[in-house]
Amino acid sequence: MPVLTLNGLGRAFGKVNAVDGVDLRIADGEFVSLLGPSGCGKTTTLRMIAGFIDPTSGTIEVDGKVLSSTKGSLPPEKRGMSMIFQSYAIWPNMTVGQNVAFGLTLRKLPADEIKRRIDNILGVVKMTHLIDRYPAELSGGQQQRVALARAIVVQPSVLLLDEPLSNLDANLREEMRFEIRRLHDEFKITTVYVTHDQAEAMATSDRIAVMNLGKIEQVDDPHTLYTRPRKRFVAGFIGRTNFVSGKRDGGTVRFDGFSVDADRLDGAARSGPELLYSVRPQNLRLSLGAPEGGVIAVAGEVAERTFLGEHWDYVFAVKEGGARLRVSAPAHDVHAAGTKAWLAIDPALMVPID
Ligand SMILES: Nc1ncnc2c1ncn2[C@@H]1O[C@H](COP(=O)(O)OP(=O)(O)O)[C@@H](O)[C@H]1O
Ligand SMILES: [Mg+2]
Repeated sequence: MPVLTLNGLGRAFGKVNAVDGVDLRIADGEFVSLLGPSGCGKTTTLRMIAGFIDPTSGTIEVDGKVLSSTKGSLPPEKRGMSMIFQSYAIWPNMTVGQNVAFGLTLRKLPADEIKRRIDNILGVVKMTHLIDRYPAELSGGQQQRVALARAIVVQPSVLLLDEPLSNLDANLREEMRFEIRRLHDEFKITTVYVTHDQAEAMATSDRIAVMNLGKIEQVDDPHTLYTRPRKRFVAGFIGRTNFVSGKRDGGTVRFDGFSVDADRLDGAARSGPELLYSVRPQNLRLSLGAPEGGVIAVAGEVAERTFLGEHWDYVFAVKEGGARLRVSAPAHDVHAAGTKAWLAIDPALMVPID
């Protein structure tokens, strides 16, 4: 049963449709990210879930009960949700222990229950020894751990996080991704996580909702999203890719410089002769001799190259038609610019785009 449902959720600010007809069902205990570029409506969506902003269309339901609609909204403090912001927002005049205790004291829990829960959560976030420190005496990562502990200790029905790691430096950001996922595996709190960082979304999430211009483009698990993007925006936003457009001509699909039997291509039977495919640079193989073994062989030359340490980034110019494709190759695969070469394309790795 989905615990949290967004139905045609929208929010306009004047003429700007910040959030535009978002439908999303999040299951009990699921971790879902809203991923997209700056300004696509992630924060507005999250703040509507929290109850800080009212929708101008649609509803938000939890366990079938409407929390937000255009007729009115349940106030944030009655939703049983916790929210963590980009700036850690822990109270500077309280110790770690007092910060974490705050929500429990507010709920008037018995003192021994408060102590038990604080000991437990500080142990989980490895902050037990810092219980009497003030925020100014903590690193950015430690402050964010306190914010996480404080949000989780009240056992919220839903945990909402808005770019919680963007103030941290790169190494710590990477470490905290795993920390956040570990906390989720431990407490299984239904979580909505907002980020513009695809690696962060991939490392933490059960499913990712990719947003663009106020709309959700695709919702899938990280692996499906990367290997089977359905929309042009998603294919280009998650990782890098090549787009190749083809035309169906009887049983063949003709691309710029090569052709493929339609029955070897996913989605080639769709209506309309115009087809678009995404092919990841690392799914293309560059070689000096013509490739064999059931792949599509395309003649051309190495037009440009950039060495990035972990791999080469080549631009391959197709001989006929002049299409240029990006190819990722291992560091030991060295080809000078201007070399006549071949490209092997596996039709199974060409992904149809709507
Ligand atoms: N209070 C507001 N008043 C006017 N426009 C707003 C307000 N909040 C957000 N917006 C606009 O709505 C769009 C989405 O913003 P936001 O949800 O903050 O995006 P994100 O979090 O994805 O960067 C942006 O164009 C932003 O300028
Ligand atoms: Mg935002």
